[in-house]
Amino acid sequence: MPVPPSRPSARFRAAAAILAAAVSIFSLRVFAQQKPESPSARAGAEAAARPWWQDAVFYEVYPRSFADSNNDGVGDLNGITSKLDYLHALGVDAIWITPCFPSPQVDFGYDVADYENIDPMYGTLADFDRLVAEARKRHIRVILDFVINHTSDKHPWFLDSESSRASAHRDWYVWRDGKPSADPSPPAQPPNNWQAIFGGSAWQLDPKTGQFYYHAFYPQQPDLNWRNPAVEKAMFDQTRFWFKRGVAGFRLDAVDTLFEDPALRDNPVLPGTNAFGQPRMEMKYTSKLPEVHDVLRNLRKVADEYGAVLIGETWTRNIDELKEYYGQHSSELQMPMDLMFTSVKTLSAPEFRRQIGAVDAAGGWPVYVISNHDIVRSYNRYGDGQHNEQIAKLMAAMYLTLRGSPILYYGEEIGMENNDPKSKDDVKDPIGRLGWPALKGRDGERTPMQWTPGPNAGFSTVASWLPVPPSAQTRNVESESGDPNSILNFYKRLLALRHTEKALLYGDYLALNPDDASVLSYLRRYKEETILVVLNFSAAPQTITFDLAPQGLGAAKVQTLLTSDTAQPASGSLRSVSLAPFSACIFRVSR
Ligand code: GLC
Repeated sequence: MPVPPSRPSARFRAAAAILAAAVSIFSLRVFAQQKPESPSARAGAEAAARPWWQDAVFYEVYPRSFADSNNDGVGDLNGITSKLDYLHALGVDAIWITPCFPSPQVDFGYDVADYENIDPMYGTLADFDRLVAEARKRHIRVILDFVINHTSDKHPWFLDSESSRASAHRDWYVWRDGKPSADPSPPAQPPNNWQAIFGGSAWQLDPKTGQFYYHAFYPQQPDLNWRNPAVEKAMFDQTRFWFKRGVAGFRLDAVDTLFEDPALRDNPVLPGTNAFGQPRMEMKYTSKLPEVHDVLRNLRKVADEYGAVLIGETWTRNIDELKEYYGQHSSELQMPMDLMFTSVKTLSAPEFRRQIGAVDAAGGWPVYVISNHDIVRSYNRYGDGQHNEQIAKLMAAMYLTLRGSPILYYGEEIGMENNDPKSKDDVKDPIGRLGWPALKGRDGERTPMQWTPGPNAGFSTVASWLPVPPSAQTRNVESESGDPNSILNFYKRLLALRHTEKALLYGDYLALNPDDASVLSYLRRYKEETILVVLNFSAAPQTITFDLAPQGLGAAKVQTLLTSDTAQPASGSLRSVSLAPFSACIFRVSR
């Protein structure tokens, strides 16, 4: 989602500019907790001792744009099911599907009108059950998106809430009187200065009942009142509905904004204006209130009943905030996303080294992400226009070899690029219409998956809801599958290594050559197994020396496991490793 005034600006594209039937609980618990039997040599004592999600590679699917089985221009669940073999061959262990519940689609599903069903545009509950069952056959788990902060204004809870001040659900949302005014003639004034993350006041007047309701995002996304225990109970029950259907966990949407200051204090105003032309503000009283952690602790208990994982959309500003989301004694989110990682905007070995080191030492399980449906694709963010292909592989070599779980964004594995709208009339994401031309919205990073060189990139036989870029002619799964040097084949090799090398699965992380401004290098060590990852973040060739004597590997030999530049493969000994510009090399180190 686009960045609120005080959040890290690289969060989003907007931020760059301004964010079957139910199976028995017993058998599902068994599935949720058991280790995947394949792929790979993960079996063994180490794997048995770890929760499944620590070994898993996650893959985000934006259902509108992944695969269109009924050729109406919009992706659907049967489309996802038809691509499970592809995902399995790629090396994916879990898919996170962004909201596919009934919704008016104002925010493309992040405005949920019914938490316990599938939007007809995407299929049926039976299709969902089939997807889970087929995924399970391929040892792929399914994660859903829990839109926890708000519902759609068309959700029956809100329809009742707005019907009268005395309605049963009135207190399920945040209703307040406007600011008192001496002059009764002008329109009512919002209760305070709080701004919506998607522009305008965060308060919407309901003329019928004469009060304002609070919305952190669009007015069509009224915030739930998490101070009401009935809301917590009803929302937790929605997760149980899906856990009982075989869902292995949730990605929690917008957790930062669950609570607001009950005293309604104004947020501090900062110098300057945001992309919507409004004063910038610190979200002191509307984001990351301590009460969030009570809800997460309680939700974790529900997830634990099913052996499920909770992944957080956590826009933290520093490691202390990230640590808070793990909770004391790991009592909250198992996987808060390190989205600060995406705020390293340029290819900087020292910056990535610093961030990785801090997250690795934070005490929880690291979660690395380089793209998602709210952020300009990594291919464009990091690409320099000249070496994009190499840089895409370099980034993959980095975040897929770190200690932690990576979450890939669909299309990243083929180097998909943003395809931004060319005119305001083409924009589908409301933010892009509100902020045009400074903000073009998030359509660019949500375009259809590129499967073939054919019409609509093989996504659909009819015009797709968003257009595919001309580059889809060559940048697609079919073409890249046939090219041994493609980004896709590099991802496949990397993920195969990640699934078989114990040092990559279980090893610790040790940064090497900490002062090197151009090359990021580190060891992953597990018992007697050591992997050395060397990443050249510069446009110049680099030759580097490693002294692994302190690690007892002074006279060790290196064997190349994978190199991103097949024309100029990295070579050498520990004394002299030569790397082509923006290239990556992964070595096995043995005594
Ligand atoms: C999250 C989603 C984003 C959505 C917003 C409001 O940030 O990732 O796409 O617009 O929440 O639900």
